Amino acid sequence: MKKLITLCLMTTAAAVCLSCAGNKEFLPGEVWLDNNGVAINAHGGGMLYHDGRYYWFGEHKTEGEGGNRANVGVHCYSSKNLYDWRDEGIALAVAPDGSGSPIEKGCILERPKVIYNAQTDKFVMWFHLELKDKGYSAAMSGVAVSDNVTGPYEFLNAGRVNAGKWPLNVSAETRQAAEAIAAGNAATVPDNDRFLVRDFGGGQMARDMTLFVDDDGKAYHIYASEENQTLQIAELTDDYTAHTGRYVRAFVGRSMEAPAIFKHESKYYLMMSGCTGWAPNAARSAVADDVMGEWTELGNPCIGDDADKTFHSQSTYMLPVEGRDGMIIYMGDRWKPENAIDGRYIWLPVNIEDGRFTLTWQPSWKL
Ligand code: DGJ
Repeated sequence: MKKLITLCLMTTAAAVCLSCAGNKEFLPGEVWLDNNGVAINAHGGGMLYHDGRYYWFGEHKTEGEGGNRANVGVHCYSSKNLYDWRDEGIALAVAPDGSGSPIEKGCILERPKVIYNAQTDKFVMWFHLELKDKGYSAAMSGVAVSDNVTGPYEFLNAGRVNAGKWPLNVSAETRQAAEAIAAGNAATVPDNDRFLVRDFGGGQMARDMTLFVDDDGKAYHIYASEENQTLQIAELTDDYTAHTGRYVRAFVGRSMEAPAIFKHESKYYLMMSGCTGWAPNAARSAVADDVMGEWTELGNPCIGDDADKTFHSQSTYMLPVEGRDGMIIYMGDRWKPENAIDGRYIWLPVNIEDGRFTLTWQPSWKL
């Protein structure tokens, strides 16, 4: 009996550890513990590899009702091997309740991503920001910087994106119609472009987002825009803290969220989801020769049971494994809106073949 109890305890311990001594493996959907034995709290996250360590930044969720609101801030963990995670604390803290700051406690701060700027030697964090008590109507992007990778990050500003700028691929018809309307004349804007035109003056909406730094050092902000109907891909300034005004629209009217990007052998690959709130749906994928497009859709990259639900997850980041050419890890979230802190991480190896990529479910796997 004693032996049976010991065996049960060992099995439970193995199930909740991301890695156990000598047997390091990924266990998608299980509870992943940090160096203190506490469940990792970094949802909708992204990764930065810097000076030999991976830094995982994500939303710090809290228990119970309201757990999806930003009550604490952006949590950071670090690891040398992607299995053992050290708690580095809160990289960007929300501002105190009642402070009136755009990142006041109780706002919605989602999908933080951090990139390193070699010119300024600063770490730059961007995130999707919704103002406190305003639901998802603000659709803003926030930016924060730090001299240290783990923070503290200083909040710079937040707002809509590229106000008064047309995307590079706007149609002449839409531009002329918008100009006619602005001049007080009657004109019809194509249905799929109405939110682009509506938000031209005040800036484009930006919700689910990621960042991408290309080999030439140029950085891009990729986000669900136009009431989540169309993705936009916008170039950042040389210091990565603002937009240059150069941007494109992609997948017009296709309603995609959760963009996650990687580059392999000169091609750019995107993974995205449909728009069903916290509930999982079938993922999408696309390929391009240039990050600003043209993008070609490739369909659902998931294969097998539950492929139509992305294995009960939603993409957040595509992680290139350092020193392993072509080894990309899909990082997804299995959301738990009823108790957000208990959301789980679904990491799976990405298989790249014949100009596309696929994902299959693995209950456990190793690099
Ligand atoms: C899906 C998004 O991907 C999440 O980041 C979050 O914004 C939820 N929608 C909110 O419903």
